[in-house]
Amino acid sequence: MTPYVADPVYLNGRFLPLAEAGVSPLDRGFLYGDGVYEVIPVYSRRAFRIDEHLQRLQATLDGISLGNPLAVDAWKSLIFKLIEAAPWDDQSIYLQVTRGADDKRDHAFPPASVPASVFAFASPLLTTPAEVRAQGVAAITVPDLRWSRCDLKVISLLANVLARQQAVAQGCAEALLIRDGHMKEGAASNIFVVKDGVLLAPPKTQLMLPGITYDVILELAESHGQRLEIREIHENELRAADEVWMSSSTKEILAITTLDGQPVGSGELAGKPGPFGEQMWQWYQDFKNSVMRKG
Ligand code: PDD
Repeated sequence: MTPYVADPVYLNGRFLPLAEAGVSPLDRGFLYGDGVYEVIPVYSRRAFRIDEHLQRLQATLDGISLGNPLAVDAWKSLIFKLIEAAPWDDQSIYLQVTRGADDKRDHAFPPASVPASVFAFASPLLTTPAEVRAQGVAAITVPDLRWSRCDLKVISLLANVLARQQAVAQGCAEALLIRDGHMKEGAASNIFVVKDGVLLAPPKTQLMLPGITYDVILELAESHGQRLEIREIHENELRAADEVWMSSSTKEILAITTLDGQPVGSGELAGKPGPFGEQMWQWYQDFKNSVMRKG
């Protein structure tokens, strides 16, 4: 069986087998979920938008007042080493930084002498099988119970975990998070809506993760002259949508064809992936193969 995590992994300055990698149980990532992460897709061994991912990592570190333990070049060199050592051409790189392990448990930050913990590994990038894409996936809506800085990519993901599990328990692939009547995003994805030929995208606020794939989709929409509105999406608009899609670095673009047990869309296309999502998926594939794979 193909392993999910390639050896070696990176932990605190060393490349070593996963089985030999360990951190203190006093690590603040373990005790408090006090840390940040990134997931970077790799196509043909080229890390896609690595600068943007490292900038988002920096923004999240700044947001939680944690100094970046590595310079950009050091991040790149460790990422390139993981990519080179892994057996797959298409990968996903996971990076995590926590506030390290003090010698006691105290909510307030540890002294500056406590080093951050840095962990990184490569996994295979598993694209959605064609038969799943052809049908689309089911989703549910749930109240958004997360905190007020969802723009930060932090490892404390309990509300996301519970929302996604609620979806999985109902045989669904994603949970769409509703706050104050508006759909913000998915438990681990950004969400787009199509209505009457217009692509609707929620704005980047502190209540949504600024997805790198989200940016690519908006760029593709603009460069192809797709009508686009960036604004809050009311829950009722979500339910009346012609199409709903999810996006992420690992899922790319995937149609949501059932929402809370009801088919998305109407008429012949009800409950089926729609033409706009299909078009965007094709633009994304073309971009991936002509630009991303070439570096
Ligand atoms: N998640 N919103 C949330 C809450 C996410 O967790 C993610 C990605 C996204 C999409 O961001 P991007 O396009 O940059 O991947 C939006 C990653 C894949 C994860 O947690 O594994």
